[in-house]
Amino acid sequence: MRETIVRNPESKHPAGIPSELASDPRFQAVERTIKQFQCRADALIEVLHVAQEAFGYLSDELMAHVARQLKIPFSQVYGVATFYHFFSLEPRGAHTCVVCTGTACYVKRSAEIVTRLEQEFDVKAGKTTDDGSLTLSTVRCLGTCGQAPVMVLDGETMGQCTPDSAAAAVTVLLESGRVPSTDDGRSRRNRGGGNIP
Ligand code: FES
Repeated sequence: MRETIVRNPESKHPAGIPSELASDPRFQAVERTIKQFQCRADALIEVLHVAQEAFGYLSDELMAHVARQLKIPFSQVYGVATFYHFFSLEPRGAHTCVVCTGTACYVKRSAEIVTRLEQEFDVKAGKTTDDGSLTLSTVRCLGTCGQAPVMVLDGETMGQCTPDSAAAAVTVLLESGRVPSTDDGRSRRNRGGGNIP
């Protein structure tokens, strides 16, 4: 289930965090990491990793708190959070699909993969489906250009994708909860199942 952090400006932690968030064990994990690194600015990525793992995304409120605690500008925290693909500024779905749109993948038609997934699963790139089951996003180069076009499903890299194979793989993931192997894709095609022509 997707979640949101309740904002209650009338009830604040001394550091500016709403009290209900301050008592949240996930938030306390972030605080422990900040303390562990003695509020050093160079711990920013480590702290954001813990925050991302704990909450599933980085809210403005959380980033502002990290900026205050590490005594760095919010813009620096925001810049790091938006630079690295691992971080998300919005709640993610139960499953994630990241399509590479870097040059090597783009020339091998990765834009068509994105379009197909957007249409097939009724979600825009950078967004999560209404039911919270899938977040679709794009990234500039995953570093595996030799396998272009590439996408990453729940952390598993899949190369030489086509719009059909990508849609089939996401369908298998949503139906079974697991990332399909290449063989799954072939057998599914052989059965003529799902969205595969
Ligand atoms: S451009 Fe897609 S992996 Fe490098």
